[in-house]
Amino acid sequence: MRTTTERQSLWLAGSEPGVDYPALAGEVRADVAVVGAGITGLTTALLLKRAGLDVAVVEAGRVGSGASGNNTAKVSALQATVYSELVDRHGPAAAAGYAEANLAGVQTLAGVVKQESIDCDLRSRPAVTYAIEEAERAAVAKEFEAAKQAGLRVELDPGGSGLPFPTYGSVLLADQLSLHPVRYLRGLAAAVHGDGSRVFEDSRVLEVRTGAAPSVRTARGTVRAGRIVIATHAPILDRGLYFAQLEPVRSYCVAARLRSGEPPAELAINAGDPVRSIASCGDALIVSGEGHPTGERGVDARRYLTLESFARKHWDVAEITHRWSAQDLYAYDGLPMIGPYQPGSRTLFVATGYRKWGLATGTAAALLLTDILTGQSNPWAELFTPHRFSLRSLPRLARLNGKVAVDLVGDRLRPAEVSDPADVPRGEARVLRDGLGQTGVYRDDQGGLHAVSMRCTHLGCLLRFNGAESSWDCPCHGSRFDVDGAVLEGPATRPLQRKKLDG
Ligand code: FES
Repeated sequence: MRTTTERQSLWLAGSEPGVDYPALAGEVRADVAVVGAGITGLTTALLLKRAGLDVAVVEAGRVGSGASGNNTAKVSALQATVYSELVDRHGPAAAAGYAEANLAGVQTLAGVVKQESIDCDLRSRPAVTYAIEEAERAAVAKEFEAAKQAGLRVELDPGGSGLPFPTYGSVLLADQLSLHPVRYLRGLAAAVHGDGSRVFEDSRVLEVRTGAAPSVRTARGTVRAGRIVIATHAPILDRGLYFAQLEPVRSYCVAARLRSGEPPAELAINAGDPVRSIASCGDALIVSGEGHPTGERGVDARRYLTLESFARKHWDVAEITHRWSAQDLYAYDGLPMIGPYQPGSRTLFVATGYRKWGLATGTAAALLLTDILTGQSNPWAELFTPHRFSLRSLPRLARLNGKVAVDLVGDRLRPAEVSDPADVPRGEARVLRDGLGQTGVYRDDQGGLHAVSMRCTHLGCLLRFNGAESSWDCPCHGSRFDVDGAVLEGPATRPLQRKKLDG
């Protein structure tokens, strides 16, 4: 059987258990209900509390157990080649707005650490976008120009970076941050909880009502609130059709203990594919990359092995200590979606689509949401409104949903892989024909069988097995389930139907 550290982030595996918050029970009243205790939810809750509002944060799992606890701990306004992309798609003003928001996110996070005295190993570091091969040199030069034009104080080094292998130019932005994200989130939760505001854990929201009496309901309780913020990474409500505008992408991370030498000080990422992102926390080296659309076929543990080989090639690695993966959401037009849930919503709000940079952009989202909910104007509101229209990005939206249609129909024609559960090897999964439907069967390392319906509980796409994570992943909108059917990632909120098998 796997040990937990084999598939748990450095931050979730390596930190103390933290405070337990109660599950929501009975009826609670608040000015604002925030669904999700990640970076956006907790920062928004804290800023609203500081503005004098009572807030109830309702989290399905534990504080920081979702995307916010499974990142690479980079808090940076320089984000690979985002500015080149935004200039191409939306023009220089949009890129400048994005830069301003993300810089504000970085600075706000640093301010909160100080004001709330959160012990989270916050360190100032240079962020770097580097060319790992000659072919990426032009992308680095383009990013330098775009980031500079967007207002960032970037420097171009045509020679390279401080990394221990040859590079072909780099863009550098000083004074960005790294931190222990889970400790930071626990510090945020502690600052939110009390004086009329509360944090609830193990409380999955099953229903959200708006209108005259907004509320969120879990299995055992209800929060009645004037307004509701959905900060669940993938929005859990189908109204607004966010699932059709976001592309879910998975990527993989390894942490290594070095035998000699030190991990680099830079928060580095290359300017092309495949991605090789490099960071550190204390003595640990962190390498990430090997991303793919969620639900892609043929994903297995080689994703980790490729990253481990890269780490061993360039550093004196004594041991790979942690392996974990993350899911990121890309809006079809490349900008985050922050604001009213539907056009004209006055009681329901959302923030999502941070690409891979949620620590900075999620904090910026909290600033914007707080302004909206407290009636202040905000210069990024129009840029990030979820209800913008981007003609130039329509082909991408069409491609995204064309792929969903193919996945939805095509997989139904897929033949079963085994007819007898006895043919499923240990540590692997197979598809079994089950009348007109299909059953996903996984055999664990002890020989036990785990069988679930392969129909995603969101909108019914057929799931695919992810051999790197031993999970059932949905190729349509990115929901994920464990081998016993529990929801790992939304937009699905209901578990898979479990099936009984002999074998
Ligand atoms: Fe939408 Fe699976 S996530 S159908």
